[in-house]
Amino acid sequence: MRAAVVERFGGPETVAIADRSRPEPADDELLVRVRASTVSIADHRLRTREVPRGLGLLVGPAIGFRRPRHAVLGMEAAGVVEAVGSRVTRFAPGDEVILMRGARFGCHAEYVTVAEGGEIARKPANLSFEEAAAVIFGGHTALRYLDLVDLGPGSEVLVNGASGAVGTAVVQLAARRGARVTAVTSGRNAEFVRSLGADDVIDYTREDFAAAGPGPRYDVIVECVGNAPFGRVGRLIRPGGALLLVIADLAGMIGAAVRPRRRGILVNQAGGSMGAGGMARLSELAEAGDLRPVIDRTYDLHDIVEAHRYVDTGRKRGSVVVRVG
Ligand SMILES: NC(=O)c1ccc[n+]([C@@H]2O[C@H](COP(=O)([O-])OP(=O)(O)OC[C@H]3O[C@@H](n4cnc5c(N)ncnc54)[C@H](OP(=O)(O)O)[C@@H]3O)[C@@H](O)[C@H]2O)c1
Repeated sequence: MRAAVVERFGGPETVAIADRSRPEPADDELLVRVRASTVSIADHRLRTREVPRGLGLLVGPAIGFRRPRHAVLGMEAAGVVEAVGSRVTRFAPGDEVILMRGARFGCHAEYVTVAEGGEIARKPANLSFEEAAAVIFGGHTALRYLDLVDLGPGSEVLVNGASGAVGTAVVQLAARRGARVTAVTSGRNAEFVRSLGADDVIDYTREDFAAAGPGPRYDVIVECVGNAPFGRVGRLIRPGGALLLVIADLAGMIGAAVRPRRRGILVNQAGGSMGAGGMARLSELAEAGDLRPVIDRTYDLHDIVEAHRYVDTGRKRGSVVVRVG
């Protein structure tokens, strides 16, 4: 099968299309023909070894020390079940599915395997494979974090990094739960994030939201950029509120350990798990239109180097899709 392969850390040019042997599904696994995946920030991190400050050693085992731990990148896929193991009962060849392999990667290839009991669900019927692939990475992360808090009408949520894959999903899902959403992004994305459900927009190139006047004003801050640790933004959060650290460096993690508790603020940097049924919920939200795909650009697998190059700019809106088969 064709796969995009990365054998050493480096720039986009380290990615090459190669022949790999097709994986064989175990008894409890499905073999899925990948139709679409995305190049995400996770692929960028694994390819470049660029991780938040202080976390190099901590994430080394997951990313690899001398070369990328996984030669085939791609955390998630939308595709068609090609074959099933003897113990699989809920899926059959021909089923259209979405799946998340997460830190096991491997989706930038024509075929992947996934356990029936793992993160797999029916593809939203109303979405193309490209669109379905575009909701998985950000939607999965957004759901995991938003499930940690109670949001409803009257809740005030700030999303830092509202135009990325995660931010666009958080804005949509938080707005859908009735929260009033403030989106932090650059001016060029202001109308775009409003179209996703943001009520207010702060252009970070003109205004530092963390420097805003005294007093807590948000119930939840969702940090998707890496510049808003508790030490900078904690005073903006109401007692009983939460700082959801989708991304943090080592200092940010340590700073989150003690001080927030005294003020009754939840700081979570792990996101927890979607648990059983999480992918099905994601699929249902997408099918209902509560989580719409945001596709910035689409590339064919043979142009994946260009896709990586674009993701490396750090400017993508939502997802960069790779059409695989
Ligand atoms: N903990 C987890 O499980 C988990 C899961 C997924 C992702 N993550 C992390 O979450 C972060 C976000 O991921 P992502 O996929 O959303 O990234 P992404 O799609 O690559 O984010 C790109 C967006 O970030 C915006 N941005 C850049 N600098 C900004 C700033 N200073 N303030 C506000 N917005 C800014 C850009 O908007 P402009 O062009 O307007 O600047 C762009 O639209 C990454 O660091 C990733 O590693 C963690």
